[in-house]
Amino acid sequence: MRYGISRALLFLGALPLLPAERLRDSAAKPMSVTPGGSKEYGLYMATLAGCRACHGPGLSGGKIEAGDPSWGPAANLTPSGNLGKWSEAEFVQTIRTGKRPDGSPLREPMPWKTIANMSDEELHAVWLYLQSVPPRPYGTH
Ligand code: HEC
Repeated sequence: MRYGISRALLFLGALPLLPAERLRDSAAKPMSVTPGGSKEYGLYMATLAGCRACHGPGLSGGKIEAGDPSWGPAANLTPSGNLGKWSEAEFVQTIRTGKRPDGSPLREPMPWKTIANMSDEELHAVWLYLQSVPPRPYGTH
């Protein structure tokens, strides 16, 4: 099943500064995972949305190499960061509202408004994927 081109364009439109070729490559391939609440589908959605382009290949956060020099550092999305402490509901609420459980807003360039376009099932899949990655210390990529 082919899926995801229009969604990739949606994300690419919102993220012009990211390594677009990488996202386009991954979107052009026929999809090899079934949409649904699995960590494999979460990896697919995370790739389309460019999470690793900003949060690092290992998702540990730190300086965004591909980004504008004015951008602040990305957060650690591995289980050793906040995502190891938040419930799934807190993660989803953070993405949907742009505010962490402690009330602090997500700063630029975290594209939460774009990511919030994901369905509940897609965000669930991304959550499962993020829970499955090995914990890494902040900023070690
Ligand atoms: C354009 C760069 C960029 C992209 C793409 C991006 N992020 Fe972020 N993200 C950031 C930055 C920068 C922060 C830190 C914001 C802050 O500290 O307020 C952040 C913070 C977060 C946080 C808050 C974590 C915490 O500990 O407070 C979560 C959750 C998150 N991102 C999830 C994601 C997910 C999931 C994806 C992919 C679906 C993604 N991000 C894609 C840049 C990005």
